[in-house]
Amino acid sequence: MSMITPEVEALLYLFAAVAFILALKGLSSPKSARRGNLIGALGALVGIVTVFLAEELRNIGWILLVIGLGTVLSVPASRMVKMTQMPQLVALFNGVGGGAAAIVALLELQAANTLGFLIAVAFTIFIGSISFSGSVITFAKLQELMTTRPVVFKGQQYVMIALTILSLAGAVLVVTQGEFLLATALMVAGLIMGLLVVLPVGGADVPIVISLLNAMTGLAVAASGLVLNNTLLLVGGTLVGASGTILTRAMAMAMGRSVANIIFGAFKGGSTAGSTEVSDRPVKSGSPEDVAILLGYAQRVIVVPGYGLAVAQAQHTMYELAKALEAKGIEVVFGIHPVAGRMPGHMNVLLAEANVPYEVLQEMDEVNPQFKNADVCLVVGANDVVNPAAKTTPGSPIYGMPILNAGDAKQVVFLKRSMRPGFAGIENELLYEPNTTLLFGDAKDTLTKVLTSVKSL
Ligand code: TAP
Repeated sequence: MSMITPEVEALLYLFAAVAFILALKGLSSPKSARRGNLIGALGALVGIVTVFLAEELRNIGWILLVIGLGTVLSVPASRMVKMTQMPQLVALFNGVGGGAAAIVALLELQAANTLGFLIAVAFTIFIGSISFSGSVITFAKLQELMTTRPVVFKGQQYVMIALTILSLAGAVLVVTQGEFLLATALMVAGLIMGLLVVLPVGGADVPIVISLLNAMTGLAVAASGLVLNNTLLLVGGTLVGASGTILTRAMAMAMGRSVANIIFGAFKGGSTAGSTEVSDRPVKSGSPEDVAILLGYAQRVIVVPGYGLAVAQAQHTMYELAKALEAKGIEVVFGIHPVAGRMPGHMNVLLAEANVPYEVLQEMDEVNPQFKNADVCLVVGANDVVNPAAKTTPGSPIYGMPILNAGDAKQVVFLKRSMRPGFAGIENELLYEPNTTLLFGDAKDTLTKVLTSVKSL
């Protein structure tokens, strides 16, 4: 028997739904993101406890065992994961959510009695399965368990078209006949579709597909809310679906691409393909002391942080250097590209960790006009986000992506370990410009040496 009245159940779900909305609001700024996350987790906890109080659950032992197993696996995984591996962890968690929704819908098929119910079941099975297998592939790509480059085979688009038609027909049959076997076949079709959609997506585009799959999981979960007659799943799933869609669009726009181009680009000869060749043209490299002198003579310095800053975990040293320069009367600002790093807001979170004040972080549109007045642009572990190929080379994987105009500064200094390209796998002409100096080495190591030299100037 239910331990709470339907009114209390509805109130608890309302509380959880409001918590989810407040969580999203909190996640919109690095300052409040932590609090937002905790509020969201509280909402989820209230939602889960409400199910135990309101429903007459069978197999409670099994349910608790599975919850315990999930907790034992996910808590250490989340604690141990490096910040740079966060997107693949999100992909994995998201995929599991989609897969769970699909399995629940499959098992609820026998209870389906209305047309709306059957449509929701078919939708959840198909979309949830796509989300699961697609997310597994994005995880494998980002974790470099498989090639990060687009995987395309001859006639793949025709296989996809055929599978889409078959799946639609299968979904209609599931809705009209409600057969378990047909629904299982639809699930298999969804799993194959997930593979076919994600395999052709390469390198830099994978995190965008993770966000897209997130949105799909949200929709599958919302539909499973209809299947299970659970308002909170409906509300929570819709929120995930909507926010995932907005994030996907925002990321695609920041990279100057359409979502369709990201997913189907590889079929057209692959604007996602890239090339990892490294040329042996000469470059000008300097020592930490040379860079310290350049910085010491500057009046305005713009720092462009990128993925390498996160890899080197050099954010604290970077801020120390900025403070040392400011102490000498040199103005320092940080130019933040929306897709620098490997996840949305990556640089903001990284620099917030080092307590860099928000006032010195400037978004791309704000900082771009200032490069021409900057004496030095210090590019720390960034590459693609300052690559002029985005403006000058049609056909390049990043062509059309708005970039930070680092090349406009009087002097450009790159801190990187080698001549290897960035995530998009393409060469950066800026490295060969006469006013560019390269300081080779791990960013934490080189920044520490530059800092010591700046202090002794
Ligand atoms: P990248 O273009 O990937 O360049 C990173 C640079 O850091 C590389 O040149 C690398 O050169 C250097 N590096 C790596 N480890 C280092 C270390 N320990 N010390 C010093 N340097 C190090 O990064 P970016 O400029 O931040 O651009 C981000 C890329 O990711 C873009 O292509 C973007 O489209 C893509 N992407 C981002 C997102 C989001 S939302 N952020 C989403 C999807 C895709 P070495 O190997 O020579 O050191």
